[in-house]
Amino acid sequence: MRLGGVVERVAPRAFRSVLEGLLAAKRSARGAARSTGSAAPSFGHEHAFTSTAAQIVADAREVCFFARIRTRGRNVRRLFKMHDSQTSTRELYDRHVIPTYGRFDLRLARGRGCEVWDEEGKRYLDFGAGIAVTSIGHAHPRVVRVLQEQVATLVHTSNLYYTRPQALLAERLTRLVGAGGKVFFCNSGAEANEALYKLARKYGNDGAPPPPKHSVGEVVQSDTHRFGIVTMLGSFHGRTLAGISATGQEKVKKGFEPMVEGFRHVPFNDIAALQSAVDVPGTVAVLIEPVQGESGVHPASAEFLRAARELCDERDLLLMFDEVQCGLGRTGEWCGWTSIAPDVMPDAVSWAKGIAGGFPLGAIWVNERAVKLKDGTVKKLCDLLGPGTHGTTFGGTPLVCAGASEVLAVIEEEGMLANATALGAHALTVLRAISSPLIAEVRGLGLMIGIELAADFAQRAKLSEGKSPALFLVEKLHDAGLLTIPSGTHAIRWLPALNVKREEIGEAAAILARVLGAV
Ligand SMILES: Cc1ncc(COP(=O)(O)O)c(C=O)c1O
Repeated sequence: MRLGGVVERVAPRAFRSVLEGLLAAKRSARGAARSTGSAAPSFGHEHAFTSTAAQIVADAREVCFFARIRTRGRNVRRLFKMHDSQTSTRELYDRHVIPTYGRFDLRLARGRGCEVWDEEGKRYLDFGAGIAVTSIGHAHPRVVRVLQEQVATLVHTSNLYYTRPQALLAERLTRLVGAGGKVFFCNSGAEANEALYKLARKYGNDGAPPPPKHSVGEVVQSDTHRFGIVTMLGSFHGRTLAGISATGQEKVKKGFEPMVEGFRHVPFNDIAALQSAVDVPGTVAVLIEPVQGESGVHPASAEFLRAARELCDERDLLLMFDEVQCGLGRTGEWCGWTSIAPDVMPDAVSWAKGIAGGFPLGAIWVNERAVKLKDGTVKKLCDLLGPGTHGTTFGGTPLVCAGASEVLAVIEEEGMLANATALGAHALTVLRAISSPLIAEVRGLGLMIGIELAADFAQRAKLSEGKSPALFLVEKLHDAGLLTIPSGTHAIRWLPALNVKREEIGEAAAILARVLGAV
């Protein structure tokens, strides 16, 4: 016995009649299940029902809908209420969600393209895109269609089996990097970086050590126990224990000591400091965000990326790029680093955020170059993490991989890299033209843009103690209908979808100028 879930139309109704409709539907479904001896049917199994429901819930607070349900062989129309309006979303969070986030008081309900609406129906221009996640905007029809089809075909199988969507996505990602290699799928940026740390450790443990450097007559030992990873100050690599250990910011580590062993940080873009750090015995890898996101959008210099590659080659270290935020089109190129130094090729890359347009997916790509092992054999780097060494239940399900492949196809076929390049440059121009003493600098690459606020913003805006200029401004922009993302205390980010329109950039810039003018 199954409930059919075809949504016919949406209509506002009073709560009482809605509840009655829902209860009646449940009663008759249960009765039918009893009479046939089967288990009570679950609404959740109806893909047409659930996929449309998400959109409907978003439409308004008091939204109800009619569904045709099949019970005792008859089609019956019932009215359903989508959520309990007795308790506000905010109250439910306060009671039931662990408060790891200092959330803004916005309750967002639905989105389309670069626009989102809150539960009251107020419209916002979305220039955060999650945090660089909804890379082709909200509810792109091509991705909606593919996800709906895949959810009705095969959602999950475990990684004990082969599934075609994962294979096709791996092939596509490898093509986008432009060098031979292989991909591992997981669920988030932190988890993708975790795979990079494990790759580096495996390389240190299994790889043959580089020949020792010595002068004639000096006795030196090979560096056989290598697990040190050098990362950058100001970086962000995720919230797992290894992620905060890798991250070059004290604030994420506080209260969680001791850190995972082996991570050392050097100033970003400082070649001399990097050189000293990689010369420390036991070093096995360097991890760099080609464009630092969480610190307020700071691109690496081309010289720094080239020097890092050279140092890694000379010392037989892995060069790994964290492209979780800056990768897959955000900078106007598939790979963030190719916007800076296209001649550099890393040994491994991590992705997440925009890869599946909002569905949770992380991934790493690993170069296929040959590696000499301690036992004298040779293996491809991308085969070092062999069977049993790493895994994750949900990584690379057919559902998420089908969605991600479509997101990347849309970026490619709808010319979104060119759009990100052109409109990113346009955004920099319009932002730099805003004449306000409250802005110190505007910087960025493609549609990854940082707006640095003046050091004396707090005094000029007469801010009360404890509120950072970035949070203050982001909230003012919310009131004016624009979502942006704070970075630290003095920067905000624009990270709109890669298909943002010129008019939307103009509208966002006008809102920013107006808000700054009124501060
Ligand atoms: C560069 C970078 N790496 C890693 C992460 C962690 O990703 P996730 O939050 O998906 O674990 C982030 C998240 O902001 C990031 O910006």
